[in-house]
Amino acid sequence: MKKIIIANWKMQLTYQQAEAYAKRLRLSTAIKKSKLELVVCPDHLSLPGVSAVLRRSQIGLGAQNAAHLDRGPQTGEISPRDLKSLELKYVILGHSERRLLGERPSLIAAKVRSVLAQGLKPVVCIGEKLLDKESGETRRYLSQELRRLFSGLKLKRATDLIIAYEPVWAISSFHQARALSPFEANSIHEYIKQRAAKILGKTPRVIYGGSVNGDNAAEFLRQTHVSGLLVGAASLDFDVFIKICQ
Ligand code: PGA
Repeated sequence: MKKIIIANWKMQLTYQQAEAYAKRLRLSTAIKKSKLELVVCPDHLSLPGVSAVLRRSQIGLGAQNAAHLDRGPQTGEISPRDLKSLELKYVILGHSERRLLGERPSLIAAKVRSVLAQGLKPVVCIGEKLLDKESGETRRYLSQELRRLFSGLKLKRATDLIIAYEPVWAISSFHQARALSPFEANSIHEYIKQRAAKILGKTPRVIYGGSVNGDNAAEFLRQTHVSGLLVGAASLDFDVFIKICQ
């Protein structure tokens, strides 16, 4: 199976900039030649415009969040059912920047189920905080978090869900962030796959996120258990993103 690169544009672009950037990517020969599966995740407001630009291209589309219900009195929420109508395939859930705003594992678990129910693929973010890492608790934290998010959930196909391993301290918005070493990432990805397979009944893809850039992406992608990358800041620089996708 192809490795996957998912660009998380966060709230960094206006919808005009997002469409213009998507057009530029669509026209790029390097992107056309890429052997990787490529996905961009603009903010919700930009999704319809970017979806129109990318229609019938090899660049897939994803959203950065979705509601835990598909219809209802949920002020300010976006239904996964409506996201599906935009021809998108992936939905990032439980990103640490959303958890910082108060999203709890129980809510993320409900979102995973509502997204799956629409036939969309959740990209579920998990990652330990610096304190967990420094006290040697990374694996214990990840194992507990996988149980909190996925207990009782069985996947029909291994490809229905992706786990994005993003150590909170490695995300570029964190002060003094730095990427995990690709070698260490490989071993943690293997661990996550094993734990997740026990719960979900299938082994999902596990991708790495956190300070990925043009210089370290290839090394991450060479690791056997790293099925792809979730790229934030570096995905917004055209030349750097092209380098990552090659
Ligand atoms: P970063 O972000 O690549 O800028 O570290 C990754 C993410 O937050 O998904």
